[in-house]
Amino acid sequence: MRIAASLSAVTLPVLAFAVGASGAAGAPASMRPLGQRSAVGAISAASNRESLLRRRHAGADSTGEQLFRATCMGCHGVDGAGAPRNIVGFTAPLPDFSDCAATTAEMRVDWMAVIRDGGPVRGFNRIMPAFRDLLTPQQIRSVAAYLRTLCQDRRWPLGEFNVALAQTTEKAFPEDEIVVTSAASRSPGLVENHIIFEKRFGIRDQLEVDLPFGFVDRPGGSSWAGGLGDLSIAGKHVLIANSTSGTIVSALAGVVLPTGDQATGLGTGTTAFEGFILGAQLLPARSFFQFQGGVTLPTDLSRAPRSAYWAGALGTTVAVGPITRIWSPIVELTGTRDLVSGAPVDWNTVPQFQVTLSALQHVRLGVGLDIPLTHRDTRSSQLRAYFLWDMADGPFLQGWKGWCPGCEP
Ligand code: HEC
Repeated sequence: MRIAASLSAVTLPVLAFAVGASGAAGAPASMRPLGQRSAVGAISAASNRESLLRRRHAGADSTGEQLFRATCMGCHGVDGAGAPRNIVGFTAPLPDFSDCAATTAEMRVDWMAVIRDGGPVRGFNRIMPAFRDLLTPQQIRSVAAYLRTLCQDRRWPLGEFNVALAQTTEKAFPEDEIVVTSAASRSPGLVENHIIFEKRFGIRDQLEVDLPFGFVDRPGGSSWAGGLGDLSIAGKHVLIANSTSGTIVSALAGVVLPTGDQATGLGTGTTAFEGFILGAQLLPARSFFQFQGGVTLPTDLSRAPRSAYWAGALGTTVAVGPITRIWSPIVELTGTRDLVSGAPVDWNTVPQFQVTLSALQHVRLGVGLDIPLTHRDTRSSQLRAYFLWDMADGPFLQGWKGWCPGCEP
């Protein structure tokens, strides 16, 4: 039943395309709002399906562009920018695949999921039909690859580099995100939170503001003290985004301001500059290695020493079922050392996972345990969690519920 409905949705634009191509102006008389199916619609859906199936068996040689022209162009337009409303016969907004800013940050696997199982699997409108009965996996792959070519400007880093966020290693990909993080330890009793606002601008740049605040268990007493930490502002610039080798490298530079309370230990009491190299290497089967390394340089060394920090995160991403939940198990290894002679290196490991909460994949949760590997007598484990909203994907409340039209239960 649901499959039939989505097939009629395919018929309309294909008809629109056929009529349009033969030179008729305006919407064909047969156009009617989606959902009001007629017998004629059902018949043409069937014959359309046959011709598509024939094409499917004819073959491997049908390129992404040909498939797009035959099956998608009626709705998505000649250039992928979306066909005019009076042609498609519906008012739902269409994505503009030629707009690099809007589409390069998308992952091709998500596009493939939408093409295969229909808009609703990612919380989109059901007008976007499911093509799993019409196109082979290979054809879905090639039409998704073709969508990528509609943004002509190669400088935009692709969404494939936007891998799952680790607990401590920062992402190299420039983001539009709000991330709220929390790290809690028992001895000493400490809860440290961050509200991180990341705003992308231009093709390869991003600005971020990190506002920490926390609560500390006062030594000896039963009372907790709370307050602001040291606010930081940083810029990130993508240096390399090589889709062939699957490598992204960015530089981050920032300033940490002494807004935090020194008495509670939430602030250092000095301004510091920080510089980091961030990177990710994509590995087969949606796996990845992310890395970060750099220094924090306080201006007043009597208050805080210079320090170095490095981290690596190895992870993979797996979809469980066709809808919504995408899990990313990750393990991190981090090291930090004060840049004074004789200072020890502190190593930690952070086993963790990230899971997507919304069908649109724009709201995600990460949870992990930060375990010291060295100096375990003085350093305790921390429970870490974050909550992330990718603002570029859509409004917070949009796209939570997903379903798979026509999928077998
Ligand atoms: C019946 C009209 C129609 C046809 C035919 C159609 N689409 Fe769509 N498609 C839509 C609509 C409408 C949306 C936007 C849904 C939304 O934003 O809620 C969409 C969304 C998408 C998206 C998600 C974009 C994003 O923002 O992530 C992809 C990918 C896509 N279509 C690919 C295709 C491909 C490839 C084809 C051909 C094989 C195709 N569509 C055929 C109507 C259609």
